[in-house]
Amino acid sequence: MPKILFVDDDYEFTNMLSTYISMEGYDVESSNSPKSALNLIKNNNYDFVITDIRMPEMDGLRFLQEALEIKRDLTVIVMSAYGTYETAIEAVKRGAYDYISKPFKPEELLLLLKKAEERESLKRENNRLRMQLKQESGLDNIIGNSFQIQELKEKIKRVSPLDVTVIIQGESGTGKELVARAIHDLSKRSEHPIVAINCAAIPENLIESELFGHARGAFTDAHTDRAGLFEEANNSTLFLDEIGELPLNLQTKLLRVIETKEIRRIGETKDRKVDVRIIAATSRNLLDDVKEGRFREDLYYRLNVFNLVIPPLRERVDDIPILLKHFVLKFCKKHNIREPVIEKATIEFLTTLRWEGNVRQLENAVESAIILCDSGTLAVSHFSQLKARTDEYRDIEIDEKDMSLNKAVAKFERNFIIKALAAVNGNRTKAAQLLNISHRTLLYKIKEYGIK
Ligand SMILES: Nc1ncnc2c1ncn2[C@@H]1O[C@H](COP(=O)(O)OP(=O)(O)OP(=O)(O)O)[C@@H](O)[C@H]1O
Ligand SMILES: [Mg+2]
Repeated sequence: MPKILFVDDDYEFTNMLSTYISMEGYDVESSNSPKSALNLIKNNNYDFVITDIRMPEMDGLRFLQEALEIKRDLTVIVMSAYGTYETAIEAVKRGAYDYISKPFKPEELLLLLKKAEERESLKRENNRLRMQLKQESGLDNIIGNSFQIQELKEKIKRVSPLDVTVIIQGESGTGKELVARAIHDLSKRSEHPIVAINCAAIPENLIESELFGHARGAFTDAHTDRAGLFEEANNSTLFLDEIGELPLNLQTKLLRVIETKEIRRIGETKDRKVDVRIIAATSRNLLDDVKEGRFREDLYYRLNVFNLVIPPLRERVDDIPILLKHFVLKFCKKHNIREPVIEKATIEFLTTLRWEGNVRQLENAVESAIILCDSGTLAVSHFSQLKARTDEYRDIEIDEKDMSLNKAVAKFERNFIIKALAAVNGNRTKAAQLLNISHRTLLYKIKEYGIK
């Protein structure tokens, strides 16, 4: 049974209309005071609110605005009397569903309600379909077959619709931002865009005004009033990337916002209500930061309602083949290149690397490999950049008893020169060119290092 709230200061009129409408199968409540009606809206789930436009306590436009602030998608019908026609139009412009001019026959109102009901059910169906679509696409962006990724997706599905704070932890390039966006897309806040800030990328003295906004003249560069990211993220999600880099004084302010759901622009004295879901990410171990006094313990526990850990790529090599395939397709499309056959050895080689830069590093490596590949097969040689890098590291064996930098550099230099000479079949002139040093310097070094 659709639930309706009637708001009109005319007691008899409300009574009459309520009786009529309830006989038609609606669950009707009425209120003669807009202020108490707002309270009712806060605490009930009405399908429709029908309100007068001229009331002594609060005018209809103001009432509409506050009602919509409480419930964004509330269907409001305004009743305009003689002389308030313009206001009624204005109300519709500001988000009322429709208006009806007094005096009207009860059947007219009934008809309007039927139409509104129809629209409601279409809107619900539409939302349901959109959510379903999003649910599939949001998670589909996260590629991976490993049990860790499957478990991660399962957790994302569960936590997204709940309005709780989430911390995402993972090394650089593991997909923290991707996961944050998926959570937002699967939440009921997804109709608004997610707002993101990287706490490590913004100078300390600017973070506060970025987050909270400022009043004109609050500091030298504050030429205008400006809303901060919290206000921008109102009714949406704020993604705080690298939260571990947030200075301590701002951690205190963030804690306060989470507790009071209010922010204050720099230089202002009044608080503003905000409704923001926070998703935070960190590539550090925040608990270590807590132990060492760099991160507030109370903030940590406030944020850590739900915790998602994305394991590094090297711990889920099962994902490498499917990620490789995914990125190959992506970059072939982007660069308009025919899709190559991926050699088995290529996959095997890629699963042996350390992937310090995780999925991002793999993504970049695949892009350059695709650009280099012109033979129709994707071979290990197309990933030579990666190979060179791992070989370099392999050359450096760390001897903790002797950590002399000079010795380590000399060792590296010797090996490097040997490789350059090998690459040009021992031709010293060419090797010197390759190494970008003079012929004389090369001869000197060959002698010094005893290279044959
Ligand atoms: N599981 C995955 N499936 C598909 N693409 C992924 C996956 N994980 C990461 N990526 C891609 O890798 C790149 C890096 O991901 P993202 O920016 O989310 O990582 P991050 O953890 O936020 O990194 P950083 O700590 O450096 O900010 C992006 O292009 C992202 O689309
Ligand atoms: Mg990131």
